[in-house]
Amino acid sequence: MLPPLVNETQTISRRTPFDQKAKFLNFALESIREPVSTGAVAPSSRFVANKVIELAELHNAQSVVELGPGTGAFTEQIQHHVNDNASFFALELNESFVKTTRERCPRVRVYHDAAENLPVYLANGALKCDRIITSLPWTIFDPQEQDHLLETIAGALKPGGRFISIVYLGAKTRVRGRYFINSLPLHFKQVKRSTTEWRNIPPTQVYCCQN
Ligand SMILES: C[S@@+](CC[C@H](N)C(=O)[O-])C[C@H]1O[C@@H](n2cnc3c(N)ncnc32)[C@H](O)[C@@H]1O
Repeated sequence: MLPPLVNETQTISRRTPFDQKAKFLNFALESIREPVSTGAVAPSSRFVANKVIELAELHNAQSVVELGPGTGAFTEQIQHHVNDNASFFALELNESFVKTTRERCPRVRVYHDAAENLPVYLANGALKCDRIITSLPWTIFDPQEQDHLLETIAGALKPGGRFISIVYLGAKTRVRGRYFINSLPLHFKQVKRSTTEWRNIPPTQVYCCQN
């Protein structure tokens, strides 16, 4: 069994405008300190988060994984939409973001680890999940790394499971961005793309893939 989402003894923290600004600042500072792996200058907007949640159809999911939660823009929404008995955990490379997301979403297990190690958290590949949601900076990964990660993700999903990833509009102008988009049909039976969400820095599309 995957770790449960809810720890009954913990309560949801209240958010204030100050918290929001602090998370924005935390993200911006990390994007200066770790520009490559952070892959963006600002956390995703609630408009993109809403698109992700809509495509994920979380009411049908018993096990959900997030890769690269950053400061928790999607994590917070996912935790509100998953079933009470569903399991949900996240893997984040940046230690500062791990801390921020744990504080923002105390009921969610956020592990400080690379997305590539996902099978370790699924009983060394013995368990499969229903949804994998990411906003990983795909254009920092070379083709070999992308192939490996996409194989890992496709292999970790149950039949009919969904892989949801945001892709910044500008990614299409980059060789590695096009490589990622063109690779999706090689790993998944169905690939759908949302309309562009312009209310995000930078504008973003959401890909929803099913196997
Ligand atoms: C573009 S940011 C998105 C953050 C957040 N999900 C959002 O939408 O605001 C990408 C995130 O992926 C994380 N990341 C990059 N490479 C990773 C890897 N190999 N494994 C796990 N997380 C990674 C970065 O630290 C960063 O938090």
